[in-house]
Amino acid sequence: MKITLQTGNTAAIETELLVAFTTDTATGKDAKPEISLLTEDEVIRKAAANVLTTGEFASGSNETILLHTPAGLKATRLLLVGLGKAAKATPHDVRKAAGTAVRFAKPRKLRELAILLPNGFDAAATARAIAEGTILADFDPDTYRSDRKDQSIDSLTVLASDQKAADAGFNEGVIIGESQNFTRSLVNEPGNRMTPTILGQRAAEMAQAVGLKCEVFGADKLHELKMGAFWSVTQGSDEPPALIVIAYEPKTAPANGPVLGLVGKGITFDTGGISIKPSDNMEKMKYDMAGGAAMIGAMRAIAQIKPAVKVIAIVCAAENMPSGKAQKPGDVQIAMSGKSIEIINTDAEGRLVLADGLAYAKQLGATHLIDAATLTGAVAVALGQVNAGVFANDEETYKIFSDAVAKSGERFWRLPLDDDYREQIRSDIADIKNSGGRYGGAITAAMFLKEFAEDTPWIHLDIASMAWQDENKPWAAKGPTGVAVRSIVEWVRSYAK
Ligand code: BES
Ligand code: MN
Ligand code: ZN
Repeated sequence: MKITLQTGNTAAIETELLVAFTTDTATGKDAKPEISLLTEDEVIRKAAANVLTTGEFASGSNETILLHTPAGLKATRLLLVGLGKAAKATPHDVRKAAGTAVRFAKPRKLRELAILLPNGFDAAATARAIAEGTILADFDPDTYRSDRKDQSIDSLTVLASDQKAADAGFNEGVIIGESQNFTRSLVNEPGNRMTPTILGQRAAEMAQAVGLKCEVFGADKLHELKMGAFWSVTQGSDEPPALIVIAYEPKTAPANGPVLGLVGKGITFDTGGISIKPSDNMEKMKYDMAGGAAMIGAMRAIAQIKPAVKVIAIVCAAENMPSGKAQKPGDVQIAMSGKSIEIINTDAEGRLVLADGLAYAKQLGATHLIDAATLTGAVAVALGQVNAGVFANDEETYKIFSDAVAKSGERFWRLPLDDDYREQIRSDIADIKNSGGRYGGAITAAMFLKEFAEDTPWIHLDIASMAWQDENKPWAAKGPTGVAVRSIVEWVRSYAK
């Protein structure tokens, strides 16, 4: 999809589909909708005037109405997309509504569209939102269907009244949208086509393309670094592990400034190991590398946005398989940090690879840590497919993250890390055990990681609830979401200011 920003006479735009946004300005619960068209363009206002009085369109969130051959316009169609109540509408609603327009166009074989930047919002924020929303909406996961009709949009024009105000936001939005889709394309691949080795190759290709340093290490490096926790997960698989290290070290970053360590869980398939999972839904465990893919996508965006801060990403990629070489419940492993871990459940493998990933990030000089992982089913039980979980061991770092989330429009809900939960992962034989049982499962998993972040300010994102959506949305296809990419990029940028 070719996407451009331009100014000009909207009435004269030749397009198959011109898109404008509306809000409902009526206040009060049961008030009749009063629809406001978010453009000052008189010709468009006139073209839409009639349909807005008929009552057939209420401007609800992502509600659409299509007008053919709108009077006075060169455009052959005018699509109105609702942003819901005016008092509540934000650029985040614009992101979804712009996506809704793209997903309206795709099955109707409209390959080209133009979207009017809505007035009444910050132009940079809405230009960014439209770029992100449309690029994300253009993604479909059906890559292996022989009857796949490539329904991608060919070209999309964003029409702004003030190009300068919109420009910076727009360019960032393109970078971030494309990076999030890059993450989604990695997560979408099945386990046989996304092994740790392939994930390493994809990361290296990306790094090469955007000018980042990238090294991919194998089993020897795990042994050299004494990554006993990471190794214990990969030892049962015939697929070699990959320790992926991507570095962004801009000359603009101050010498003694922060070094941000991004650590991702890259389990390319999680069978559970010897504590094998039930077969129902096991196929979904191909998305168990979504945290790692989020870090790789975030690095792609960071390389292009170029914030003045050092960033290192570490992705611990492995397959979790049962075999004659696999680790067993009851085994004791020594992590890179020196801590001993009693393996209660070989299906609690994400925290094992991350324990060594966090330790390695610290060894490489990270002053602040963030990890992302499809870590627990429990987080989905707690939060549903609406929020991902966030945990933090430091209030200031958490504040910076939650401010970043406010800008990204993603949804994270903070869960606690009280010391009292530590009891659940106490082992009789080792320093810690890798499972705290069913109660508070997302929290005890985070408590485990906290032992390896130690005193370094750290954020943990449990994205198991959000990395894969089971339902189509008006603005996005079901499947991999690329969750956390936008918030991580925003968080990183906060350290460059
Ligand atoms: N990858 C899973 C978590 C998961 C579950 C992700 C569902 C996405 C959807 C993780 O490795 C896992 O198996 N966690 C266990 C932990 C338990 C054994 C302590 C879980 O959540 O059941
Ligand atoms: Mn598991
Ligand atoms: Zn897993």
